Amino acid sequence: VEETYIMVKPDGVQRGLVGEIISRFEKKGFRLKGLKLFQCPKELAEEHYKDLKEKSFFPKLIDYITSGPVVCMAWEGVGVVASARKLIGATNPLQAEPGTIRGDLAVETGRNIVHGSDSPDNGQREIGEFLNY
Ligand code: GTP
Ligand code: MG
Repeated sequence: VEETYIMVKPDGVQRGLVGEIISRFEKKGFRLKGLKLFQCPKELAEEHYKDLKEKSFFPKLIDYITSGPVVCMAWEGVGVVASARKLIGATNPLQAEPGTIRGDLAVETGRNIVHGSDSPDNGQREIGEFLNY
């Protein structure tokens, strides 16, 4: 069965949105397979976002993701990778549809409260990197 890596980012934890975010995946019918509170080291943040390292916002992104604890989760279910991305909504919360996590709970791309893997391969890799760190 497919798995995806979902991470509540530091702003989501700080704002008290962990329960709300978990609840949305639970209610959809996915199964929680692993969870931990974790202070992401700078090297792991840089590895996780390496595809964005040429972007002007990269240093800000690394500061953001290491600014406080994150909640690392593995979720399992048929089609969970693509479905979780739909539940999360567009990268820019102002473009995310109402009813999605970002559409309902965030306003800034640089503080968009949650991450979801973009492919099953990346899901497996990210679960290994974060849950087994
Ligand atoms: P993730 O699920 O977190 O990977 O988001 P995504 O797949 O919707 O977007 P993408 O992988 O393209 O970008 C990763 C993260 O970088 C985003 O979620 C944002 O937190 C951040 N990011 C992307 N674009 C911008 C930008 O233009 N400005 C800022 N400040 N952050 C950005
Ligand atoms: Mg992404």
